Amino acid sequence: MREVILDVDTGVDDALAVLYALRSPDLHVRALTCVAGNVALSHVVRNTVALAGALGAYVPVAAGADRPLVVDSPDIVSVHGDDGLLGIAPPGRPIAVDRRHAVEVLHEAITGAPGEVTVVALGPLTNLALLLRTRPDVAEQVAEIRVMGGSLGAGNITATAEFNHWVDPHAAAVVLGAAWPVTAYGLDVFYDPVVPESAITALRADDDVAASLAGELLDRRGQDAFSGRPYLGDAGLVTSLDVGGVTYTEMPVMVDTRPGPTRGMTLADRRSSRHEFAAREPWSPVRVATAVDAGVLTRRYLEVL
Ligand code: BDR
Repeated sequence: MREVILDVDTGVDDALAVLYALRSPDLHVRALTCVAGNVALSHVVRNTVALAGALGAYVPVAAGADRPLVVDSPDIVSVHGDDGLLGIAPPGRPIAVDRRHAVEVLHEAITGAPGEVTVVALGPLTNLALLLRTRPDVAEQVAEIRVMGGSLGAGNITATAEFNHWVDPHAAAVVLGAAWPVTAYGLDVFYDPVVPESAITALRADDDVAASLAGELLDRRGQDAFSGRPYLGDAGLVTSLDVGGVTYTEMPVMVDTRPGPTRGMTLADRRSSRHEFAAREPWSPVRVATAVDAGVLTRRYLEVL
């Protein structure tokens, strides 16, 4: 059983990931920490406690950063709708919000089980950067950091940048540049695992609340003009914790923090001869997902849900 904390900006993607994580027999969710991203922090928290409540999962859900570290809070027309869940309301009673700050929850969980906790960051990296800056001891105690973010090719929110890194480029630079093991699952693989129509129909008809919610979210996403296809997105990353199915390449990476057209762009040194990259600041070695077996991830997601 893997111990995980999901740092989320719920969001359809995050919702699909949270449903999976709370139902996976191989994951133990220690906490869900919230950060502003796809929607404002208040919506993120509301959506996250609603999902946990629908599943009867009494995990700590804590609010963290409501804005990026340095740059202005972006004014975004979210592809997840105004509420973050494309108008879908999880049934039942939301659980109570944990009164602690997300950074405290992360710190306590990581230092309470040194070497055991994997942090899965599915939104802008503001909470994790604050954690590193205020509690640097976590870097040696966390098992690993898995990040949904970045792109070796085109961006999505801009021509050059992936959404999470664009929202808070300084936080992304801090987290990717820190001395802890980081694996990035970016746009090069993000859209590949797609759920077939027949499986979505079956999920929607299922009596189980997690299955039917996942079915509704995927169905709505498939019909949405922005999204276009019912992809797993963040949930693909979380599913890969259980079944693998991802090819990684370690490469030196940095994030462009400058304002302008390259804000949040992932820069990766992909040359074959770069043996001394570790010594050349500010490049940091990051394990980057370069391919996925979409079938493996989609099958596992559907089995668990
Ligand atoms: C990202 O797109 C956003 O809409 C998702 O939340 C995800 O984190 C990929 O850039």
